Amino acid sequence: MSFYTFYYCFFLLLLLQHQFYHGTSELEVKYYSATCPNAEAIIKEEVTKLYHEHGNTAVSWIRNLFHDCMVKSCDASILLDEDPAAGVESEKSSTRNFGMRNFKYINTIKEALENECPTTVSCADIVALSARDAVQLLGGPEIEMRTGRKDSRESYAAVVEEFVPNHNDSISLVLSRFQAIGVDVEGTVALLGAHSVGRVHCVNIVNRLYPSVDPTLDPDYAEYLKRRCPTPDPDPKAVEYARNDLETPMVLDNMFYKHLLNHQGLLLVDQQLASDPSTLPYVENMAADNTYFHHQFARAMIIMSENNPLMGELGEIRKDCGRLNDH
Ligand code: HEM
Ligand SMILES: *[C@@H]1O[C@H](CO)[C@@H](O)[C@H](O)[C@H]1NC(C)=O
Repeated sequence: MSFYTFYYCFFLLLLLQHQFYHGTSELEVKYYSATCPNAEAIIKEEVTKLYHEHGNTAVSWIRNLFHDCMVKSCDASILLDEDPAAGVESEKSSTRNFGMRNFKYINTIKEALENECPTTVSCADIVALSARDAVQLLGGPEIEMRTGRKDSRESYAAVVEEFVPNHNDSISLVLSRFQAIGVDVEGTVALLGAHSVGRVHCVNIVNRLYPSVDPTLDPDYAEYLKRRCPTPDPDPKAVEYARNDLETPMVLDNMFYKHLLNHQGLLLVDQQLASDPSTLPYVENMAADNTYFHHQFARAMIIMSENNPLMGELGEIRKDCGRLNDH
């Protein structure tokens, strides 16, 4: 092959790659710069205001990203309310989404955007950007997220359990669920670091306490958990819960990994990260180095946030994040 043929092929490849790239994903940094230049600033302002009024909203925005993006795509399907007339069974009522909260404040953010630029900014991008801003408010890393997602025209309530793992699933199942959306083992270990903030209701813990205490649990920690969750059958409506991280409950830091190494993981899936040989080295490194944890967390959040984005005509820009637009 001559020198010129080589370069010709090389350029052809570059062109093809470029086209392929645009064919599969059009998410862009600052997608709204022309159509709604203040969109990202408005979201950040609303997320910050809400955080100062109800700190837990920031925790919820991080969980939203996981539960939305894991099921088919990041398309705000998680935000749809039950609406039999429109054929919508809400994903919110799936047991996997138990405990999710603060949904009503999403529309506070949406209304601020609608006032500035009506039906321009998707609810899916609100899910992504609010998670990004929440991470920063909770002391986590800066994350550069791309935008341009559209909102789904349906809910995937019927299949949530095929995508979102359960609190007691095996490590191999958890890793395969994340691998399916392009997140590797290191990224999965980092993403579960989100459990450095927030709470867990007793229903998700009692299997580790009754009838007998999980022997991998630190005994003092088990005593604390039994005080928080005194009966084997908690009333799911009673607000009985334990905090994920007692020392720094509202900081997205590497305390989570230190607790795992001390046998103080709250969920079985969390604790397994410290017992499986494929994940333990990452747990140790993240426990030792918060900057490394933050770097991996940001990297994996971006991958998760770009899972199979719904683009162009395939979706819509909802006016109300909890309802499909009328057609
Ligand atoms: C194997 C994967 C995961 C499982 C099985 C899982 C399961 C759970 C469970 C059972 C709860 C407690 C719900 C309750 O009782 O109220 C919870 C809370 C939470 N999860 Fe996960 N989770 C996983 C991954 C993630 C990821 C990847 C993120 C985000 C990056 C995340 C963010 C959160 C947050 C922030 C909370 C606290 C929510 C609050 O306090 O309102 N989780 N998770
Ligand atoms: C996991 O927990 C659920 C309750 O949330 C329980 O019904 C199920 O049997 C548990 N599975 C395993 C494998 O322990």
